[in-house]
Amino acid sequence: MTNAPDTTRCPHLLSPLRVGDLDLPNRVIMAPLTRSRSRQPGDVPTEMNARHYAQRAGMGLLIAEATYVALVGKAYGMIPGITNDEQASGWRLVTDAVHERGGRIFLQLFHGGRVGHLGLSGGQTPVAPSAIRANAKTYLEAGGGKVDVDEPRALGADEIPGVIGQFVDAAKRAMDAGFDGVELHGANSYILDQFTRDGSNRRTDDWGGTLEKRLRFPLAVARGVAEAIGPGRLGYRISPAGTGNSMSDSDPVATFTALGAGLGEIGIACLHSAEWAEDAGLARRSTDAAFAAFKHAASGNPASGVTISNSGYAPETADAWIAKGGADAVAFGTLAIANPDLVERIRAGAPLNEADPSTYYGGGEAGYNDYPTMQQAT
Ligand SMILES: Cc1cc2nc3c(=O)[nH]c(=O)nc-3n(C[C@H](O)[C@H](O)[C@H](O)COP(=O)(O)O)c2cc1C
Repeated sequence: MTNAPDTTRCPHLLSPLRVGDLDLPNRVIMAPLTRSRSRQPGDVPTEMNARHYAQRAGMGLLIAEATYVALVGKAYGMIPGITNDEQASGWRLVTDAVHERGGRIFLQLFHGGRVGHLGLSGGQTPVAPSAIRANAKTYLEAGGGKVDVDEPRALGADEIPGVIGQFVDAAKRAMDAGFDGVELHGANSYILDQFTRDGSNRRTDDWGGTLEKRLRFPLAVARGVAEAIGPGRLGYRISPAGTGNSMSDSDPVATFTALGAGLGEIGIACLHSAEWAEDAGLARRSTDAAFAAFKHAASGNPASGVTISNSGYAPETADAWIAKGGADAVAFGTLAIANPDLVERIRAGAPLNEADPSTYYGGGEAGYNDYPTMQQAT
């Protein structure tokens, strides 16, 4: 008899994986999930947040929710920040609790860019590559009504190094707070995505105009963070064909091929794609192209080149996707919300809880820390 885990169910998904500097016991990744439950005022993580992540520590890697690197980039009410010592101390509760349970956790570094509101940013006008208002809504308080985002102002070229510096400072603060690494939120219409795609970046200076210039900002952020904390501690998330919040690009395959190659050259640990889009074929093609370019550029570097797929996967489809070589790991969003013991359930072939959207944003333990484990359900 051996004590080897039973990997007869979903053997690929449940197999170990090296990601940058980390060894994961399985390839089940907790996708970043905004829950708007930080302490107010101050956007400070709490013991309640620590319990949430600790419950999920059995997943190979947790990617903690979008966390703003500067108050002007706070796009939604009650999301946490990583801009001062108080917020860092709150995050320390989270990282300690996850590590006590044997887990690993990255923080998702976030700046909303043009998805912002004066009522969230302490009265600062949202900043963006170009002064184009998104057709997007936000909420000032979790559970409150939705409001239109404010019109942004275009960042001056002289201000851009400062924004890059905000990401770098936040990454260092996250590492000091005990995170195992960070993921740059380059997906879903926020500032990194806004610089990357030509629908939102209409600049004619060194930060826009050509594909190479549009990629200058995201790659400078990635390079700066990689230099500060080590490339093996860095991930990057994309959503190449997403059209939410007025996003568009004239050639997502070319754009994300070039971005994937650039990130692979920097040698970051992993590239993560939120693949859902109205045009599912384009989402697939642009993700596949980005992954291939990333792996090609990272080849020969054992601390780089891991790919993570996300959006709409069930354990079985994730396992088949990894077996086929589509990605090295799969991130789960709603399943991670509803199943604190997702890995144990997959291993046991147990039924999965369903998430309740009415408790996604704001509130307390209900719909957050009270989803039952298998033992609690029986
Ligand atoms: C409540 C909720 C909050 C989310 N917050 C974030 C976030 O902070 N950052 C991010 O990149 N994606 C976020 N997403 C997207 C998820 O990470 C994921 O891409 C999405 O749920 C699709 O994966 P799934 O089909 O496994 O649920 C969020 C999704 C939900 C449902």
